[in-house]
Amino acid sequence: MKVILNCAMTADGKIASKERKQAVISSEEDMRRVHVLRSQVDAVLVGVGTVLADDPSLSVKEKYVPGGRSPLRVVLDPGLRTPPGSRILQDGVPTVIYSCVEGSVCGAEVVALPGPVIPLCMVLDDMEKRGLETLLVEGGGETMWRFLDQGMVDEYNVFVGSMLFGGRSAPTPVDGEGRVVSEAMRLELLSAEVLGNGVLLSYRVKKC
Ligand SMILES: NC(=O)c1ccc[n+]([C@@H]2O[C@H](COP(=O)([O-])OP(=O)(O)OC[C@H]3O[C@@H](n4cnc5c(N)ncnc54)[C@H](OP(=O)(O)O)[C@@H]3O)[C@@H](O)[C@H]2O)c1
Repeated sequence: MKVILNCAMTADGKIASKERKQAVISSEEDMRRVHVLRSQVDAVLVGVGTVLADDPSLSVKEKYVPGGRSPLRVVLDPGLRTPPGSRILQDGVPTVIYSCVEGSVCGAEVVALPGPVIPLCMVLDDMEKRGLETLLVEGGGETMWRFLDQGMVDEYNVFVGSMLFGGRSAPTPVDGEGRVVSEAMRLELLSAEVLGNGVLLSYRVKKC
């Protein structure tokens, strides 16, 4: 399965402020690109931290892609913390929640996997069995880290918006435990494109 990571960060490398609340970092041009990308992939995935912080719908907005098809929405939520009534459970677009506990969530199919950490290889296997070929991961930093650290990512796209948040606790595109210099993940820069008041950097992630 092809895995694409996408996020927007400030010019000081933060994907949200220290309050960890949703912030519009993308330019309008980048927002359009993200919605076009969503309409082209088979599934779009976030961690439950993003659902709790931002309450995203992850569907394709008519405004950006008229008639666009929304992909399957996926949440990694080991403890089934997705609040009832979350936007990701609405709109009639299918949603799958991978968890480590049995349970049900109105508006989503729950797939329980052995835990306590959701095995990403089993998530990708399950998606492939459903006939899905491309996955867009939209955050947050903990989830991006897990995909990258396990060598599962093909492309990494980051939009650098023209604003600064500061804050040592503000989340970044790739959080998690981090690596030492000798084990840094290596990228190949594919393109750098000005999109309104910011720059989109696209990378291929080198496989070790
Ligand atoms: N600017 C952007 O592009 C952008 C995009 C998305 C999000 N954000 C920001 O990012 C922040 C949220 O990021 P975050 O790092 O806190 O949260 P996150 O990555 O969205 O979610 C992390 C949580 O997801 C669960 N999870 C993910 N992978 C798992 C796995 N393999 N196994 C088990 N559990 C797994 C864990 O849930 P449990 O805690 O239940 O174990 C984990 O704590 C918010 O501030 C949001 O605004 C920014």
